[in-house]
Amino acid sequence: MDPVRYEVEGGIAVATIASPPVNALSAALRASLAAAVRRATEDASVRALVIPAEGRTWIAGADISEFGKPPVSPTLAELIALLDACPKPVVAAIHAAALGGGLEVAMACTARVLGPAAKLGLPEVKLGLLPGSGGTQRAPRLMGAAAALKLMAGGDPLDAKAAMAAGLGEVLAEDDLRMVAIAHAAGLADGPLPAPVSRRDEGLGPREAFEAEAAALAKRAATEPQVAAMVACVRDAFELPFDQALARERQAFLDLLQDPRSKALRHVFFAEREAAKIAGIPRETKPRRVERAAVLGAGTMGAGIAMCFANAGIPVRVIETDEAAMQRGLARIRATYDASVKRGSLTEAARDARMALVEGAVGLEAAGEADMIVEAVFEEMSLKKQVFATLDRVAKPGAILASNTSYLDIDEMAAATSRPGDVLGMHFFSPANVMKLLEVVRARATAPDALVTAAEIGRRLGKVPVVVGVCFGFVGNRMLARRTQQVERLLLEGAAPDQVDKALTDFGFRMGPCAMGDLAGLDIGWRIRQATGKRAPVADALVEAGRLGQKTGKGYYLYPEGARAGVPDPEVTAMIERIAAQEGVARRAIPQEEILDRLLLPMVNEGARILDEGVAARPGDIDVVWLHGYNWPAWTGGPMHWAEARGLGGIIDRLAGFAAATGDESLRAAPALVRASAEGGFRALATA
Ligand code: 3HC
Ligand code: NAI
Repeated sequence: MDPVRYEVEGGIAVATIASPPVNALSAALRASLAAAVRRATEDASVRALVIPAEGRTWIAGADISEFGKPPVSPTLAELIALLDACPKPVVAAIHAAALGGGLEVAMACTARVLGPAAKLGLPEVKLGLLPGSGGTQRAPRLMGAAAALKLMAGGDPLDAKAAMAAGLGEVLAEDDLRMVAIAHAAGLADGPLPAPVSRRDEGLGPREAFEAEAAALAKRAATEPQVAAMVACVRDAFELPFDQALARERQAFLDLLQDPRSKALRHVFFAEREAAKIAGIPRETKPRRVERAAVLGAGTMGAGIAMCFANAGIPVRVIETDEAAMQRGLARIRATYDASVKRGSLTEAARDARMALVEGAVGLEAAGEADMIVEAVFEEMSLKKQVFATLDRVAKPGAILASNTSYLDIDEMAAATSRPGDVLGMHFFSPANVMKLLEVVRARATAPDALVTAAEIGRRLGKVPVVVGVCFGFVGNRMLARRTQQVERLLLEGAAPDQVDKALTDFGFRMGPCAMGDLAGLDIGWRIRQATGKRAPVADALVEAGRLGQKTGKGYYLYPEGARAGVPDPEVTAMIERIAAQEGVARRAIPQEEILDRLLLPMVNEGARILDEGVAARPGDIDVVWLHGYNWPAWTGGPMHWAEARGLGGIIDRLAGFAAATGDESLRAAPALVRASAEGGFRALATA
């Protein structure tokens, strides 16, 4: 079907775009749109052209899946040149999102009429790119160079009102967008043709305002090549004729397209969307209705999870074992909201509305009315089984019974009920009201519609759901355990805590594992190790010396007088040296790149095993877990993408070297990693 429907009404041509799902500017859409512009130009009876669209977006931008392929004419640049040179008025009638190349098309029109739900933005920055079809030249001429630079560097769209105020739209149509746009086009056709946006140099605004905005971006420009390129291109708007500046923008765009950071960010875009598709269930599976939720346990996680529901407007009951614990939980929730109000990120009215959705209760019977129940009680299998057996008795038929367990076997919990099809894991990450990842754990008997419901609710809560299988620690924590093991080993072998942390922060993590441990409290891991009979000589010794982290003023680091950033402590060095001697580990200076590889490559190795076992369906799912659950730097694409970009063969050799040097055979490449390397990448291991 032709993606553009062309009609003429009373001398005005209307070219309606309908290219689902998002009207991305594919070759077919570009060709149809260009044909419509030519037809309107050549038809003497047509006075003006209006471009509306159907569907959930106006135009979502260039077709990202075509990037890196040979260009097909008409290119976006050619289409936009055609619009720019059109001798008749062209009006964009924008009912929804006009993003990236979509906004660039709109800005090449004579005027833009916005519907109330319009959203205008240049999100290329999030893909490691800049607007590459005139956006860096036209946006400054419409809204002023300073504001345009801010819009591009931020990447978030403006709503209709803000876009109008910024000068991106000429008319706001409260209703009947199409008719208003046609009327506006007819009015324009009655007068002299306005200058195309490309010639409106007066719109750039004061140079000083632009330079101030550029200076504010200097820090980002130093590390994000697309931001540096944006600044340079917008500056060109002041200094070069339009066509020359356009050519330079094009070159900058093509250069960025080749940058591995942009490739990684584009991988992330598609991986996030692919992760949303649950493998191995009928496509037409519909979610169950969820109108009320219950959360069991109002501790660290339970309180955060309850807030997620309240934030999404879903009434939630927080259930504890006794009144005092329940009141403590409610107070914890309220205090978190109060802090947001104090910071200015939440209004008092919004806080009150959210608090009104949270109700405290005592005893599991109170979960009887909930459509979805998430348990976040202590991490003990016997307790969890008891909870699930009780839920089986009290929960209403069809309610989703979810566990927030970090490590435990969901199949075992499901077996404690007579309805294992309703049981699954919903593993939130701490702080639950902030972190975006939700591991949806699919147990052996989980029903497809239960799975779809958990994922759908996850999205309603603003999370990025990734479906994973049952195993100790699921995807994220299972890989993390490999890194944690190496932190211990590296400390014993001679790396200092700040060297370990620096290797990861230089790589792009916000925090290293030692600083993170100090922040969260080292007693958490210690308690888990005690319960499972594991040991970590350094971490154990710290806890046993009363060094629990920030809360005791010392952990891996020293926190003088409540400082948030730790300083290295010679006492810790002495302690580690002593333990290394006891354990018979020889110490040496370890180069930073070796520290980094020792931390990350065993995780990649574990990722390969996880894929091979089908615990994650695709390599991209693992990347999404690490990006949203552990702040893995997005511009490296996540652990699996990063490993492939680096070369799996080299990683296998490096792991072999580590195994030989340390005598730790578990460091050697897993058969799955070897197979992925031989068969062209991790996709070979994917089950979906
Ligand atoms: N190119 C190709 N495919 C796209 C696309 C694009 N620009 N935008 C979305 N899609 C696809 C998605 O991959 C998804 O495909 P799937 O169903 O096969 O998985 C489908 O469209 C629906 O997308 P979402 O699930 O994301 O739908 P939502 O309704 O949740 O969100 C959206 C819609 C806000 C438009 C969101 O898709 C989005 O942010 N898209 C990207 C926008 C963007 O970055 N545009 C700039 C592109 S770069 C550019 O234009 C360069 C230019 O300057 C030269
Ligand atoms: P917590 O100790 O802070 O809170 C647990 C709460 O459960 C306590 O308030 C306790 O009174 C309550 N509780 C115990 N038995 C109960 C019962 N029968 N009915 C109702 N409430 C009961 O524990 P936390 O950290 O919130 O962990 C809870 C669960 O979440 C655990 O399974 C844990 O593994 C998991 N988890 C923890 C994360 C973390 O970072 N703390 C991250 C992700 C998951």
